[in-house]
Amino acid sequence: MTESKQTDLALLAFAREAQEKAYAPYSDFRVGAAVFAGGEIYQGCNVENAAYGSTICAERGAAMAAVLAGHTFFDAIAIVGDSEAPTSPCGSCRQFLAEFNPEMRIVMGGSGDAVEVSSLDVLLPEAFVRGYLDQDAGKA
Ligand code: THU
Repeated sequence: MTESKQTDLALLAFAREAQEKAYAPYSDFRVGAAVFAGGEIYQGCNVENAAYGSTICAERGAAMAAVLAGHTFFDAIAIVGDSEAPTSPCGSCRQFLAEFNPEMRIVMGGSGDAVEVSSLDVLLPEAFVRGYLDQDAGKA
């Protein structure tokens, strides 16, 4: 097994551990995530709310923990959901993660054995990133 594959599986194991903590009484769809940043791992799980729209996804929870620890560049994130096939990050999470590395490695797992690896620039091509805000284009 290659070193990166081993790292992917290790990160996935942390996401699975976080999935156990998910608070998902409404959808009953538990998600765990683990961000790899600065050589450390930061976990998150989905936290639902009676006002459904106030729910926080696992990926954003993990990203918040990494930022709180001082990291603004993430090498990779692993995501595990209750779907049989690997769970793909939602659109809002893709945009949220692009802030911290638009080429981030994305490792996805589900309840089955399959693991998919991709990168954020594939899942969210031409992301809106802070560089656009620094340009004068479009200003009067
Ligand atoms: N969910 C995540 O945590 N991450 C995703 O990328 C997709 C969806 C959560 C939100 C909600 O608690 C449940 O999965 C069902 O949508």
